[in-house]
Amino acid sequence: MTELKGFNLARVEKRVDWTGELFSLRLSGAPLSFKAGQFTKLALLDDDGTTISRAYSVVNAPSEQFDWLEFLIVANPQGQLTPKLQKLNTGDTVYVGQSAHGDLTHDTIPKQANDLWLLSTGTGIGPFLSLLDDINLLPHSDNIVLAHGVRYEKDLVYQYLIEQLQNRYEGRLRYLPIVSRETLNGKLNGRIPELISSGALVDRAGLQFSKDNSFVMMCGNPEMIKDTSPVLQQLGLEKYRAQTGGNIIYERYW
Ligand SMILES: Cc1cc2nc3c(=O)[nH]c(=O)nc-3n(C[C@H](O)[C@H](O)[C@H](O)COP(=O)(O)OP(=O)(O)OC[C@H]3O[C@@H](n4cnc5c(N)ncnc54)[C@H](O)[C@@H]3O)c2cc1C
Ligand SMILES: NC(=O)c1ccc[n+]([C@@H]2O[C@H](COP(=O)([O-])OP(=O)(O)OC[C@H]3O[C@@H](n4cnc5c(N)ncnc54)[C@H](OP(=O)(O)O)[C@@H]3O)[C@@H](O)[C@H]2O)c1
Repeated sequence: MTELKGFNLARVEKRVDWTGELFSLRLSGAPLSFKAGQFTKLALLDDDGTTISRAYSVVNAPSEQFDWLEFLIVANPQGQLTPKLQKLNTGDTVYVGQSAHGDLTHDTIPKQANDLWLLSTGTGIGPFLSLLDDINLLPHSDNIVLAHGVRYEKDLVYQYLIEQLQNRYEGRLRYLPIVSRETLNGKLNGRIPELISSGALVDRAGLQFSKDNSFVMMCGNPEMIKDTSPVLQQLGLEKYRAQTGGNIIYERYW
């Protein structure tokens, strides 16, 4: 296949189809130096040879043992790249960026952040799974809340990994699945900002948001981030800036 500047060619090791739209790709053979929580680019060539590249978060943590990279992707039928990625099979090739970026990383979390809130929607859970799975740099916070907002129960991916992580964190990690388009026993129903405003999220987490103890990382749907930020600010939390610190950092997926 043609060489592409800034990319390595990777082999698809496997594709896991979680639902009709949601899938994971495990890729090998493309060396990438990255921190847990970062993203790189995936690319394919269009029929006329034009490069189509988009950003994707790595779901696994960096490891000296394994050279593969895993990505969680939702296919947008009208999108340019995702329908092509969804058709890849074991043995196919795809371009992977040679550099990684993003601030949803361990070194952004302030030392005094006793309560770490990881708020995600859809595929935005990916970087948080990577962050939590990095055995060399486990977040030091006493309490970690992983909230995952999805439309339907079937979109609650990586349950086996989340169970493993909960065991590894020995009670420090609380997982809060949130489903918006179905009502399910034992699960929060609705959207993240409304569940924070109503108190339902903190009740379920058994923790309060506080300016002194909380650090909030958000990832996924930009509307969730837009609606959640003012709710957190009303509770006294401030947007994080590298120079001055703060409580809220996020990554928008579109
Ligand atoms: C930093 C960063 C990290 C990202 N990581 C991931 C990831 O790990 N997994 C992933 O699936 N996507 C991720 N994205 C989105 C991804 O880069 C593409 O935009 C997306 O896959 C759509 O590409 P496309 O060519 O199929 O659609 P396009 O032709 O580019 O159409 C884009 C439209 O698709 C919708 N859209 C884009 N991304 C999503 C999404 N994740 N969930 C719901 N709707 C979406 C929006 O309406 C957007 O306007 C990330 C984006 C950024 C900026
Ligand atoms: N998941 C599916 O079954 C499905 C089916 C067909 C196509 N798709 C494709 O996949 C794309 C992404 O779907 P997705 O389900 O992964 O992601 P999504 O549309 O971002 O939905 C994920 C979660 O974010 C919530 N959300 C949306 N806006 C919000 C806001 N302003 N504040 C707080 N929460 C908000 C949604 O709630 P609401 O439910 O209230 O919006 C849902 O619980 C779609 O655009 C579509 O192309 C997905």
